[in-house]
Amino acid sequence: GMIERLDYLVALGIDAVWLSPHFPSPNWDWGYDISDYCAAAPEYGGLPAFRAFLDAAHARGLHVILDLVLNHTSDQHAWFLESRSSRDNPKADWYVWADTPPNNWQSCFDGEAWTYAPERDQYYYHYFMKQQPDLNWRNPAVREAMWDAARFWLDMGVDGFRLDAIGTIFEDPDLTPHTVPLTLAGLRRLSETAATPAERALVDRYWRDMFVHQLGGPGLHDLMKELRAVLDEYPGDRMLVGEDEDVAYLGNGRDELHLVFNFPLMRTPPPGAITPAHVRANQAARLALLDALPAAGWPCNTLGNHDCSRVATAFAPDPDHAAAAARVNAALVLTLRGTPFLYNGEEIGMTDHLIADPAHLRDTMATWYYDALVNDLQVDPAEAALRAAAMTRDKNRTPMQWSAAANAGFSPAGVTTWLPVNPNYAAGINVADQEDDPESMLNYYRRLLRVRRASPALQTGAYRPLKPRARDYLAFLRAAAEQMVLVVLNYAPARQQVRLDRRSLDAALRTPGRASQLGGRILFSSHAGGDDATGDTGLADLQLTRIDLAPYEVLIAELG
Ligand code: GLC
Repeated sequence: GMIERLDYLVALGIDAVWLSPHFPSPNWDWGYDISDYCAAAPEYGGLPAFRAFLDAAHARGLHVILDLVLNHTSDQHAWFLESRSSRDNPKADWYVWADTPPNNWQSCFDGEAWTYAPERDQYYYHYFMKQQPDLNWRNPAVREAMWDAARFWLDMGVDGFRLDAIGTIFEDPDLTPHTVPLTLAGLRRLSETAATPAERALVDRYWRDMFVHQLGGPGLHDLMKELRAVLDEYPGDRMLVGEDEDVAYLGNGRDELHLVFNFPLMRTPPPGAITPAHVRANQAARLALLDALPAAGWPCNTLGNHDCSRVATAFAPDPDHAAAAARVNAALVLTLRGTPFLYNGEEIGMTDHLIADPAHLRDTMATWYYDALVNDLQVDPAEAALRAAAMTRDKNRTPMQWSAAANAGFSPAGVTTWLPVNPNYAAGINVADQEDDPESMLNYYRRLLRVRRASPALQTGAYRPLKPRARDYLAFLRAAAEQMVLVVLNYAPARQQVRLDRRSLDAALRTPGRASQLGGRILFSSHAGGDDATGDTGLADLQLTRIDLAPYEVLIAELG
């Protein structure tokens, strides 16, 4: 099935695929509990199928990035089975063991972070659920074994790794207890009921304090350098992206990771509202951090992934304009400086699907929370079901919607898919229905990606903000030696008139007198329709008089 859909991805216009973990796994955390790092899950066809997929992707010019989980393995991994079998086996020190729970640390998924293993009469540590024991990364044998696994895939030709949860690899060596007077379930519950700003501030502080000693412990930079050195043994363009926002993990810009995600872009105040002011502040802060690295770091933007609400749901403060806002946000990620990551299905406008019946939940952190709400916190089951449906990651992991056929064409009719299909597949949110409609979300993404691929400025140009105080729209230049591009995104349901004066354009272009010599050519307008929405509107007109934008219009123009 995956091989059959590669041509769809090529037609979409992307360059690379990041696969969620495809390794054998008991699936307590849907692949993020790996039981063999050098194999592919049998339900996906095992290694022969993976090799065929990789070759087929490469034959089409698509790169393949795997998800590498370093912090923990499955409790069914042979390493852990051996480690837990006795206190003196060869792998006894491959995980984090203690005679008694040395502190009150919590697992961020299922309560206590220390779980008893009767074979050793000891406790093992797990930041995630108890089926995901933390590896002891201070043990050089663990490093060697994991780097061998990385080489296994690099030898096969994979193009890099997305590194899962790297912040959780090292803990506070002093094992300092946290100070929050609540359990994990209690804190989650308080997050839901906090009403006043003071309560919400307290909740934020508690979330930070509860896990502060379990994250970002010393040692990660050396580890990332080791892994980068492994990657650099290989020819071609191989890439490491960390699931972290800390640009420190780019090292000097050349010796650790290639990318970390700009997660702060997704953390809007208030939640869910991307505003021009938020984006400008985010870019100013982010780019300053990256530029300060000795070899300058490269940005990486995204608005969605398998762990959070889908972009069309998360950033839609006004439900009447959700689809229009999703288009503006797509343009944002595809025009900002940096590598964009899209989450499967956003290109057809897929939304979250709330799973009302807790019996249908698959995400262990949600089923655990539902049980804790009902059994420990005596919350009414109906309310607990609503809370679990809202917090689970299942809502944004439902099957890709290929067509209006049964099961959205993901599985044959009559098959029960592993998560329910979002019923909106029957209302046009599917690939087949959007394929030939020039106005569809799918063709909107395709057009944007085509414009981006053809534009040196959008790929590599510097970001130069314009109109720093505009409340409703975002305007910026992308400036490369070969090309200069103007981007204007209207974030409001109202028409806008954008006046760019020569002085501020000159300042952004960093060349006095340059602006008056420039004309403009529209490369893309969300409202002009058709494939090449060009028109030779002179930018002189646009500058000197005004740019008129329709509600939620996206405009991209080449200056020259
Ligand atoms: C990362 C993954 C998430 C997973 C967790 C534990 O955050 O993105 O899906 O549950 O790590 O591996």
